[in-house]
Amino acid sequence: MTSPLGGTSNTEADSVNGAPAREALSTPDGKPFGTSQIGVHDLVPELGYREYWYPAIELGKLGKRSHRFFGRVKPMHRKLLGEDMVLFLGKNGKVAALRDRCPHRGAYLSKGRCEFEGTVSCSYHGYTYDDTGTCVAALTEGPNSGLVGKLMVKSYPTEIVRGIVYVWMGQTQPVPIEQDVPEEFFDPQYVIVPYSTVWPMNWTLAVENSGDNHFSYIHRFRLRRILDLSAFTKQMCYWPGVKIIDVEADRLTFKPAGEAPRQEYYPGLKKKWPQHIWWRFLPNLHPARTNMKRTNYSHEYRLPSIARVHATGAGYLHMRWGTPIDDHTNLQWTFGIARATNRVKRLFWKVYLHHWYRMQIIKTTNELEDVPVQRYDRLDTTAPQKL
Ligand code: FES
Repeated sequence: MTSPLGGTSNTEADSVNGAPAREALSTPDGKPFGTSQIGVHDLVPELGYREYWYPAIELGKLGKRSHRFFGRVKPMHRKLLGEDMVLFLGKNGKVAALRDRCPHRGAYLSKGRCEFEGTVSCSYHGYTYDDTGTCVAALTEGPNSGLVGKLMVKSYPTEIVRGIVYVWMGQTQPVPIEQDVPEEFFDPQYVIVPYSTVWPMNWTLAVENSGDNHFSYIHRFRLRRILDLSAFTKQMCYWPGVKIIDVEADRLTFKPAGEAPRQEYYPGLKKKWPQHIWWRFLPNLHPARTNMKRTNYSHEYRLPSIARVHATGAGYLHMRWGTPIDDHTNLQWTFGIARATNRVKRLFWKVYLHHWYRMQIIKTTNELEDVPVQRYDRLDTTAPQKL
């Protein structure tokens, strides 16, 4: 994982700040790793970690016709970790994920159609493949074609959890999906509302964004913060470092090291920043919105590319999972997760997470404030960096 500790952390983060860390991560002849000249970015695979399950598509998007009455059932295209694949409904409730190339002449199978149940037919000569990737009919070669049963397309293992199709991107046998998908997804007490969209940035940026120290700058003021009054609430002006709470083989948990003032004097500027805070007088009723009580938070990073923000005061978990598409885009999943022990609470959280949370946190805070700063044409991840 790229440094989860942010740029100015003053606790364990010092181990990756400045020259000592660079020396520690340099090659034996003293040269820093790769173009970033720090090593941390260069130790993370640009296209993601292979031996994991990744969320690919919502099940409800498969099996649809291109037209309500006459349309053909369309297979869906996805690109995961740099690999094009076609997804369609297989037999017995399974979902097929095949390499998106016909082994006959290379046509994209995702441009074909699902004419026969549980199969995809290529748009060129009609060779038809089942959910294992086996050619079950070469339509234009006749029923006795010798290719049947012999021509194969690479297939990827899939699983369905809570209406989301996961694809195993590993070279080895898949692990049980419970090892990669967080525990709440298998507990019926939890309401989970998914949302996905493409973010134009490398997956590493999308992950580290949830836990670095940009909050008091990027999210300090926008028009919509007037509308929801968060522009008028008291906020910390910087992060006073982080404290690592727990480290396990596949995850790291940390939290802010303490509280910081609302305004601070910067000697190099001979000024205070923020320069004016007189309008910030409202109390912090909602820590997820105001950032003031960040000591209530814990952040967690999990492999392969999961970031979880436990906003304890807000009562729900904000979880992001970036599935790498290529080196500068990722399919960013955001899951609103809340525990609901009765029907009334379930209804409340479903409505809240579908509407308010999606608008307030995902579409505005993340998509309108974070993404424009981090997108690949605004930020150069290959430039030398000092974390
Ligand atoms: Fe697919 Fe010929 S290219 S059937």
